[in-house]
Amino acid sequence: MKVTIVGAGAVGASCAEYIAIKDFASEVVLLDIKEGYAEGKAMDLMQTASLNGFDTKITGTTNDYSKTAGSDICVITSGIPRKPGMTREELIGINAGIVKTVASSLVQHSPDTILIVVSNPMDTMTYLAHKSIDLPKHRIIGMGGALDSARFKYRLAEALGAPISDVDGMVIGGHSDTGMVPLTRLATRNSVPVSEFIDADRLQQVLEDTKVGGATLTKLLGTSAWYAPGAAVSALVQAIACDQHKMFPCSALLEGEYGLNDICLGVPVILGRNGIESIVEIELDQKEKDHLQSSAAGVSAVNGLLDV
Ligand code: NAI
Repeated sequence: MKVTIVGAGAVGASCAEYIAIKDFASEVVLLDIKEGYAEGKAMDLMQTASLNGFDTKITGTTNDYSKTAGSDICVITSGIPRKPGMTREELIGINAGIVKTVASSLVQHSPDTILIVVSNPMDTMTYLAHKSIDLPKHRIIGMGGALDSARFKYRLAEALGAPISDVDGMVIGGHSDTGMVPLTRLATRNSVPVSEFIDADRLQQVLEDTKVGGATLTKLLGTSAWYAPGAAVSALVQAIACDQHKMFPCSALLEGEYGLNDICLGVPVILGRNGIESIVEIELDQKEKDHLQSSAAGVSAVNGLLDV
């Protein structure tokens, strides 16, 4: 199993580290445009192998795509992250050009790959990948909902005073502060609806904290987060590599599902060796449906800024 990660920055390197620690891939290639940067990150990570007990071989390259040839899974984390006060959408001007070039270089060398898009604005960058490269739709996946759901579960567990492993919940919709649709109605603690344990005001606060989860960290860190994003990407990579048939909310190209067309938006999907094996259409109530529609409208408006 060969995995390429483009962008050896904060998220790319964190993702490589989690993949290596889980030890399911034979090879991880880090590629970056910055001279020597990916090579350095790869060497540093390899020097953790004996300490962390993995055999995954991590190598780095400065923009040599021949080294990525034959990758089963490619991850795009290249591009600029947001600074405090910025929205993800403001990154489109720079990141669209990067994602388009990187995606086509990757596919040239790995025509059968599965592509995971992470760069922001992620739903629009995933849509751009669909429009600009020739891969079947189940092979292009955007990562956002897995991270937003992890943040939702963190906030829920905090509000409930419960261990995170007792809590379940999912965030669908666009990967933006206004586009996220946390499904509080379906969130549970030990399979019991969370509304049994906390009042509506507290639940509303959980929802608000989840939506600004990325912005809160960006303010604290001065740049966007990397541990949880890296872990979320590695979970998707593992689900595909190990054919886990596991459900994650991911940005997928919709063709009628949830009443939406020609848009990439976060919906529950089953991930396995072929990428997106199916899109799961869960029953939403009217409020959730309306929220998903307005989320889609927001993403469509950003897609309209693309030159495709
Ligand atoms: P970073 O600045 O630490 O790393 C980005 C790396 O991309 C840099 O090392 C840079 O040299 C490299 N790069 C730029 N242009 C390139 C090109 N043409 N080819 C190869 N490499 C190139 O940024 P960070 O924090 O790792 O974030 C990366 C992206 O991921 C940002 O767009 C950020 O907004 C996004 N992100 C998305 C998340 C999600 O849930 N979808 C979560 C967190 C970050």
